Amino acid sequence: MKLFEVYPLYDIAITRAAGAYVWDDQGVQYLDMYGGHAVISIGHTHPHWVKRIEQQLEKIAFYSNSVHLPIQQELADKLGKISGKPDYQLFLCNSGAEANENALKLASFYTGRKKMVAFSKSFHGRTSLAVAVTDNPAIVAPVNETDNVVFLPFNDASALENYFAENGKNIAAVIVEGIQGVGGINMASEAFLQTIRTQCTAHNAVFIADSVQCGYGRSGRFFAHDYANVAADIYTMAKGMGNGFPVAGILIAPHIPAKYGMLGTTFGGNPLACAAALGVLEVMEQENLIEMAKQRGMYIMNKLKEFPELENVRGRGLMIGFDVPDYLKELRKKLIFQFNIFTGEAKPNTIRLLPSLALTRKQADEFLETLREAIDAVKEEQGLLEKTEQ
Ligand SMILES: Cc1ncc(COP(=O)(O)O)c(C=O)c1O
Repeated sequence: MKLFEVYPLYDIAITRAAGAYVWDDQGVQYLDMYGGHAVISIGHTHPHWVKRIEQQLEKIAFYSNSVHLPIQQELADKLGKISGKPDYQLFLCNSGAEANENALKLASFYTGRKKMVAFSKSFHGRTSLAVAVTDNPAIVAPVNETDNVVFLPFNDASALENYFAENGKNIAAVIVEGIQGVGGINMASEAFLQTIRTQCTAHNAVFIADSVQCGYGRSGRFFAHDYANVAADIYTMAKGMGNGFPVAGILIAPHIPAKYGMLGTTFGGNPLACAAALGVLEVMEQENLIEMAKQRGMYIMNKLKEFPELENVRGRGLMIGFDVPDYLKELRKKLIFQFNIFTGEAKPNTIRLLPSLALTRKQADEFLETLREAIDAVKEEQGLLEKTEQ
C-alpha cells in the first residue's frame, strides 16, 4: 500500500534520535534545530521520559474516560503548578488541532455565540473549525468555509477595537498565537494581547491563547502570552507537551463551567499519554528548561544578529526566526544535505529554529559555526564570497 502523499518529503529516512541529534538509516548524524516541528521539548528519547512511559506501559496503557484515571489528576496538579495556572481546569486530548477545535467549541457553548475572530497569517490546525480560523485558504476544504470567522490584521489593536465596537455581542472568541509559528515567527505585541484581553472582558468573549507551538516553555516563559501579563480564558497546548508522544490539552479558566456533553474523547488523557506528559514536566523542572530556553535563545539570537547576511532576527527563547536574502534561498537545503542540520522554514524566506529546550551551549555553537560555513558555501557557489568580504 502506498502512503498518502501529504507533504513534499526530503529524501532522508530518520530512524534513531537522542538529545539534540537524529540519525538516518545510513548512520549519518544530524543536529536537530527543528525539534521535529517544535515537538521535542526535553530532547529526543530522554532517559527519564522513556522510563516513565515504559513503567506506565507495564501497569496500564489505556482505559476509557468513564472511570477515574488517577494519573490525569497527577498531571493536572503538576501542570497547574508549572504553568502558574493552578486554578484552571484541564481537558486532555491528542493534537493541536483538536485542542483548538475544543477550545473554540467550548467558547461557543459558553457564550451562546458563533463569531470567531482570528488574525492574518494565523495557523491553528486542520480540523473543521481550527482550519476555518487558519489564514490559508489553500488548506480550507469547501465544507469548512464559514461566515462565522472573521480575520483581522495581526497586531492591529484599533482594527480589533473597531470590530468589537460593531460586533461585540456576536463574538464568541478571539484566538491568537503568542508567537505565530507557521506564519513566520511573528510576535504578538504586548499591547495587542492586552487589547484582546480588555475587549474580550468588556464584551464577554473568550480569549483563546493558542500555545500549541509557542507554549510549554519554548519562549522562555511557560506561555508566550505571559510576556504581556495577561491571563487568557483558554490556553491550548500540544507539541512540546509529550516530547513526541501525542498528547494535547486545554487549560480552562475557573469561570467557565463544565457541562456534560460539551466535550468528550476516547483517547484523550489515556494513562500512557499522561505518563509521557508527566515525564516532560518532571524533566523541565529538574533541568530548569524554561530558563535554559530563555538564555540559550538570547545567546543564539545575539550571535545571529552578527551575521551580516541575515535579516530580521526575531523570536523569544528557542522560537527563533530570521529571513534570508534571495541569494541564500538554498541555505536550508544546504544545511540539511551538506552540513547535516535540520531547521524549519516559513514561506517565502524565513528559517525557523525550534530545537529542544535542552540544547546545550556547545550545540548552539556547533549550529552557529556550521551556519557560517553553510552561508559561505552557498555564497561561494554563487560567486559572491569574495565580493562581500572585500
Ligand atoms: C500554533 C499552532 N496551532 C495548532 C497547530 C496544529 O497542531 P497539530 O498539527 O498537532 O494538529 C499547529 C501545528 O503546527 C500550530 O503551530
